[in-house]
Amino acid sequence: MRILLIGFGVVGQSFAKLILERRNELVKVHGLNPRIVGVVDKGGAAVANPELDLAEVLEVKKREGTVAASKHGKKDASALDLISNLDLDVVVETTPTNIKTAQPGLSHIEYALKLKRNVITTNKGPLALALPELIELSRYNNVALLFSGTVGGGTPILDFGKRCLASDKLVMVEGILNGTTNYILSSMEAEGKSFEEALKEAQRLGYAEADPTLDVEGWDTACKTVIIANWLMGRGVTLKDLSVEGITHVTKSDIEEAKKKGKSIKLVGRVAERIDVKPRLINRNDPICISGTLNAVRFVSQYAGDEIIIGKGAGGMETASAILRDLLEVKYRMAQRWYE
Ligand code: HSE
Repeated sequence: MRILLIGFGVVGQSFAKLILERRNELVKVHGLNPRIVGVVDKGGAAVANPELDLAEVLEVKKREGTVAASKHGKKDASALDLISNLDLDVVVETTPTNIKTAQPGLSHIEYALKLKRNVITTNKGPLALALPELIELSRYNNVALLFSGTVGGGTPILDFGKRCLASDKLVMVEGILNGTTNYILSSMEAEGKSFEEALKEAQRLGYAEADPTLDVEGWDTACKTVIIANWLMGRGVTLKDLSVEGITHVTKSDIEEAKKKGKSIKLVGRVAERIDVKPRLINRNDPICISGTLNAVRFVSQYAGDEIIIGKGAGGMETASAILRDLLEVKYRMAQRWYE
C-alpha cells in the first residue's frame, strides 16, 4: 500500500517507527505491506520509489530537523504537489491541530479526497470545523476518510461507538477526553503540584498540544466532543455550536473542597440534549473518575445501557497504533472483505 505521510512530528515519526517494527508481521498476518513513498514536513519533503528508507528518514529528521535533508530530499516539494503527482493509495495527515482555520490540514484533506485518495488523519482541526462536509466529500468520491486517532489516542473509542453500538441508539456520551488536563488535575489533587508544574510535565511527556492553551482552555476536548457528536450521534455540529469552558480557573482549594465531598474535578465533554465542555464534579467511585493521562468515555445507549471504555488517550505510539488500525481498514475495504 503506497502512503504519503504529511506531518512528521511525534505522531508521524511514531507511525514510521511502528511500520519499521511491525512490517513483517503485517505482511504475514494481514497481507498489508505499508510503503511510505513520501514524507512532508515544514522544511520540505523526501520522496522515493518504490519506498523511502524509513530508518534513514528518521535519522535525518533527528539530526537535521527536516526530512528535506534526506538523500531523497526535495526542498521545494509541497504536500499538495505530492498529493496530486504521486501514485498513492492513502494520504496520512498528521499536521498539528489549528482550530481557527483548520489549515494546513483542511486543504490537504479536501484536495486528497477530491483526487480520490483515501485519507487517514489524526488532525482534529479539520474535523472540528468541517466534519459534515468532509464526510460528504469522501462519500461523493467513494474513498475512505478515517480518523480513529483523533479521539482517545490508541483507544478505539470511535470504533466502539460506531461499530459495536450501531444497532442501538446512543442517548448520551460523556467523557474525559484530554490527557493533559486530566494529568494536571490529578497531579494537583494527588501530589499537590501547581498548575504550571503539572502542565510543564505533561508537555515534557509529549501529551500536550503544540499550543497547550488548546488543552487547558478546553478546545481539544471540544474538538473531540464535536467528532463524537457528529460521527456517533449524527448531530451535524461544529465547534461554534458548543459551550466550552477549560480548567485554567480551577484552584487547589476547589480541588480540596471537592475531595472532602468524595469527588474529583474533571474536564468533561458531554453530548446529550446540550453539547458542552466544562469542569464537572465526579464521584471518586465512578469508573470514569480516572487519573493521569488516561481517557474514559461513558456510552449510554437505549437498550444496552451504560458502557465505559478506558485507555491511554494520548502519546505518539498510541496514536500511531490508531493510524495503523485505520490503514488495515482501508486495506480490507480495498479487498472488499473484513477480518475472519
Ligand atoms: N493534547 C491531547 C491530550 C493529545 O492531551 O489528550 C491527544 O489528542
